[in-house]
Amino acid sequence: MDIIRVEGGHELNGSVHVSGAKNSALKLMAATLLAPGVTTLENVPNISDVHVMGKVLKRMGATIEVVDEHSLAIDTSAVDSWEAPYDLVAKMRASTAVMGPLLGRFGKAKIAMPGGCNLGARKIDMHILGLEALGVHFDTDHGYIHADASDGLVGTTVTLEFASVGATENLIMAAVRARGTTVIDNAAREPEIVDLANMLNEMGAKISGAGTPVVQIEGVDELHPVTHRVIGDRIEAGTFIVAGALMAGDEGIDVVGFNSSHLGMVLKKFELMGIDIERIVGGVRVRRAERIRPVDIQTLPFPGFPTDMQAQTMVLSALADGSSVITENIFENRFMFASELVRMGADIRIESHHAMIHGVKGFSGAQVVSPDLRGGAALVVAGLIADGYTEVSAIHHIDRGYEHFVSKLVGLGACVERATRPDSIDD
Ligand code: EPU
Repeated sequence: MDIIRVEGGHELNGSVHVSGAKNSALKLMAATLLAPGVTTLENVPNISDVHVMGKVLKRMGATIEVVDEHSLAIDTSAVDSWEAPYDLVAKMRASTAVMGPLLGRFGKAKIAMPGGCNLGARKIDMHILGLEALGVHFDTDHGYIHADASDGLVGTTVTLEFASVGATENLIMAAVRARGTTVIDNAAREPEIVDLANMLNEMGAKISGAGTPVVQIEGVDELHPVTHRVIGDRIEAGTFIVAGALMAGDEGIDVVGFNSSHLGMVLKKFELMGIDIERIVGGVRVRRAERIRPVDIQTLPFPGFPTDMQAQTMVLSALADGSSVITENIFENRFMFASELVRMGADIRIESHHAMIHGVKGFSGAQVVSPDLRGGAALVVAGLIADGYTEVSAIHHIDRGYEHFVSKLVGLGACVERATRPDSIDD
């Protein structure tokens, strides 16, 4: 069993460069389906979720050349299948992002129904309702969704009940090829959506308002391939900022390769917690917080506090000088990591979607299990300040979204390694 072992107490210094944003790269890869030919994506993170999306595209007939570790040349000219199969969708829900582009280019898609995941039920009803409004007919059988728009997609106004990231993206990617104009009302505003709209516009789409609650898309007849650079990963950056706030030496650490305005609310809350954050070119410099003040936080769609930073922030709150409440509004099951942090000495009580956190003086290293991607990364970060050794298992979750996480931490001076823990003889 692979684990990440952390010896706590080592000061961090120097600089870390974050990779391209997972949640941008996955959708940009799906969007290449809209433009027959070779689209080159740069600054693509080398993580397992990207590998899964690569497999999804290849099963459809795309070819992918790995130009270098972070550049992919994706040729979608020969795509002749419209299916995202269950084995891949079960591995990664974001595979459903191919539905919009397949409908846009071919007028049909067959997508395995995603089912639940370790963050909760995670339905895709809003994707379906929105696409139905554009003229798509849906049918389900044997665990698959069959989407058909052979009569053509027709632009209309779609009002989303909730500013869903995935629904906004699928709708944009279908609507770029619809007849007429589509308006998405209450659209999600995440920076990854702006990145997607920027690439589609470079391909010849006519999208305006991305990054605001009202996105307008005028359909076009064709899109052409381009070369596009993925934005830096704000959540990876936020994770390293938490590490710096806990363990940076006197000079602080520099976290670069991302746009600090993409972390606006996170940086604001961290500053309220007493963390010294300086904006520098291409990122931020963060210094260790001598004393962390308790601050209440609730997760919300962008520009609110991101759910993807909730676990890492709870590590800070758990060491604050007082009590705080973190409210999770986006996912129904995203506190699983809290009980692992309690094993390290944190004092956290969960009631429904609220976590009541009473700050403790320190953590003590323990064996813990990564429950999901962000929770796993947060446990490794907690290990950096814990007394003794922390061993985090189920690290395949971390590999989904953090490129070279261990070596980047080692580069900052942390004492972290990947290791194999023998399974118990009782297993
Ligand atoms: N929802 C529905 N119906 C829908 C769509 C969403 O009920 O049709 C619910 C979901 O169940 C969830 C909430 O709405 O409770 C938010 O879902 P959203 O569609 O906004 O999220 P997503 O597209 O499934 C993306 C990221 C997540 C990130 C969220 C919120 C990708 C691949 N995933 O998910 O990233 O937490 O937006 O910002 O882009 C992560 O990176 O660790 C991660 C989970």
